[in-house]
Amino acid sequence: MRIISLLAFGICLIFLHGCHGHRKLSEGEILEQKVDSILTLMTLEEKIGQLNMLSGQGELTGPVTDGHSYIDAIKQGRLGALLNVNGVAYTRRIQEMTLQESRLGIPMLFGYDIIHGYKTIFPIPLAEACSWDLEAIEKSARIAADEASAAGQHWTFAPMVDIARDPRWGRIMEGAGEDTWLGSLIAAARVKGFQGDDLSAPNTIAACAKHYAAYGAAEGGRDYNTTDMSERTLREVYLPPFKAAADAGSATFMVAFNEINGVPASANPLLKYILRNEWNYNGMIVSDWNSINEMIAHGFAANSQEAAIFAMRSGVDLDMQGHVYAEVLYDLVKKGKIPVWQIDNAVKNILRLKFQLGLFDDPYRYCNSEREATSILTPENRKAAREIARKSMVLLKNENHLLPSGKTVRTLAVIGPLADDDENILGGWKALGDPDEAVSLIRGIRETVDPKTKILYEAGCNINDDDRSGFSKAVAEARKADVVILAVGESAAMSGEARSRADLGLPGVQHELVKEVFKEGKPVVLVLMNGRQLAIPWEAQNIPAILEAWLPGTEAGHAIADVIFGDYNPSGKLVVSFPRSTGQVPVYYNHKSTGRPADPEKRFTSKYIDIPIEPLYPFGYGLSYTSFMYSHMELSSDTITMSDSLEVGIRVTNIGNYKGEEVVQLYICDHVASVTRPVMELKDFKKIELDSAETVRISFMLTPKHLAFYDQNMQFITEPGVFSVMVGTNSVNYTGKKFTLVP
Ligand code: NOJ
Repeated sequence: MRIISLLAFGICLIFLHGCHGHRKLSEGEILEQKVDSILTLMTLEEKIGQLNMLSGQGELTGPVTDGHSYIDAIKQGRLGALLNVNGVAYTRRIQEMTLQESRLGIPMLFGYDIIHGYKTIFPIPLAEACSWDLEAIEKSARIAADEASAAGQHWTFAPMVDIARDPRWGRIMEGAGEDTWLGSLIAAARVKGFQGDDLSAPNTIAACAKHYAAYGAAEGGRDYNTTDMSERTLREVYLPPFKAAADAGSATFMVAFNEINGVPASANPLLKYILRNEWNYNGMIVSDWNSINEMIAHGFAANSQEAAIFAMRSGVDLDMQGHVYAEVLYDLVKKGKIPVWQIDNAVKNILRLKFQLGLFDDPYRYCNSEREATSILTPENRKAAREIARKSMVLLKNENHLLPSGKTVRTLAVIGPLADDDENILGGWKALGDPDEAVSLIRGIRETVDPKTKILYEAGCNINDDDRSGFSKAVAEARKADVVILAVGESAAMSGEARSRADLGLPGVQHELVKEVFKEGKPVVLVLMNGRQLAIPWEAQNIPAILEAWLPGTEAGHAIADVIFGDYNPSGKLVVSFPRSTGQVPVYYNHKSTGRPADPEKRFTSKYIDIPIEPLYPFGYGLSYTSFMYSHMELSSDTITMSDSLEVGIRVTNIGNYKGEEVVQLYICDHVASVTRPVMELKDFKKIELDSAETVRISFMLTPKHLAFYDQNMQFITEPGVFSVMVGTNSVNYTGKKFTLVP
């Protein structure tokens, strides 16, 4: 029976079963009936087939132990989804095969890691988060979805909403940084961007909030490593972005690789008790690559059978690449070890998604070669990528207004292993990002400066080896220059999955190159390109201008040149704290006070004896070419009740010479509580743009809800008491006032 007859059959069933008296069925009820009508046609083998996802012919994104033929599986109705297949021609071929050769012709679901763009590559997600521009972030996901859906994709394995406080963890590049509140807003924006308002529209794709949960807290920052944390920290720090993604309608969730408090994520009660029961999440849950089987290596399941039982029981619907469901579920059901209703529930979650995507109406909905030819890597998409790339950059230092640089410099030396790079700038998880389409820094500079400017170039060294043979040439070019632009950092392969680093310094001999070039005494602009925050204390101390450009994507060179030469006034603010040294990790702004808060003058306080306790650059920090003055902070009252809100007003004036954007940040501190609270917590922000000399009054509304936390009984409550509210330009420079919340 093929899809058309399938659908006719389904509609017939709805007609037969759907007339509850004369009541009209809701859309949801109709959908459930459609799903049920397909389910009744399926054999157990076909049901289990829907729970199986394999990797296709594209770049492999995990270890492959067994080469299972997905072609055979498709024909036999033993495959519900494929990842890592690309392009209209190929996805259409697979879809045709599915429809024509499998008994029921249930459309195939195509998933892919579209993390920061499909072919037009946007800055890595960590960078985008530094824009604090939710609209731009949503737009970037929207464009990624538009391009991917034009090339046959239905589903992205994004956004990654894991909070990360440890930059050793390579996957920090995929998230929104260390803050839960901001991370939650960004999670929702990304889900909305991918999915739009209508999942069945041909230019939207299903999102996947990952990796549930606490993957970002891997011990030692080592990928896949153990996570052990209190329920409080889980609920306060790590879970809210997942909740935000669920509330924003994320069609799917992906479980994490790690164990949490002794139970691997693929079988962790967090799935059932929090995601399903507490949050009422009814989307589809996918394992991570082999994560069901890996419960054996975790020492949690004795064999594949046990692993499958645990995952099914916990509600993991789709087995990514593990092939364990495909291998063992049939026997387990036959032996009565797994009830059929568990299989049915999982199948329904997958079928429902296929219906929501419109695949039963038109399985080729996302196979439009005309769209594929015309809507990918368009000038508008490149323009959007350039805009968000420059918004993502963070100006860390700008002594004596070295930047912006004039475009008429006589001689410019562009030095460093990332200066003429068009590959690493795309970052990890670059989907179909093409280096030939990417704009290197030097190209961006050439296209921006005066044609008469002489541009000298030397790499000086590689990114990550100990070859110093290029130093002398680089130094010689620097000597001839009026200004040196020095581009250093990490390769794309140094962050992302399985790319944890134990040393957060500049890799290889780049730090030495920086020192050698600096010795020439020329004005040096350091451009950092990296997938995580680095420990660069010497550079911070000595180099006059430092721009954190991250890994900016296809339009990297243009965007960096826009900032360096003043066509864009930087406005990015850090969403992660920069450590002074690796040993300071984890360092994050919303830490607890301790009973002996750090005091450099006092011995018995919580600090290091060799470095200060503060980060090198704090959360929320980032300079502009102009400056902003904060004044006249006022609260609508110094006392509020549980049913009041507090208006927090402040004036912000642009006191510099450039028009500029500022992220006005609001933090709170609960001074005394029945459970200790962080020294400060971000609770709101506004991104504004001001002309030179312009003043605006910014107003925030704080409600008791902003002050709530989990008490000792894990109840989410607001306690009366004294609070501070701080408003400022970052988590260190702010104006604060106290108020009291009365019962
Ligand atoms: C493993 C990664 O952890 C996950 O994030 C990704 O989506 C899958 N592989 C598929 O590539």
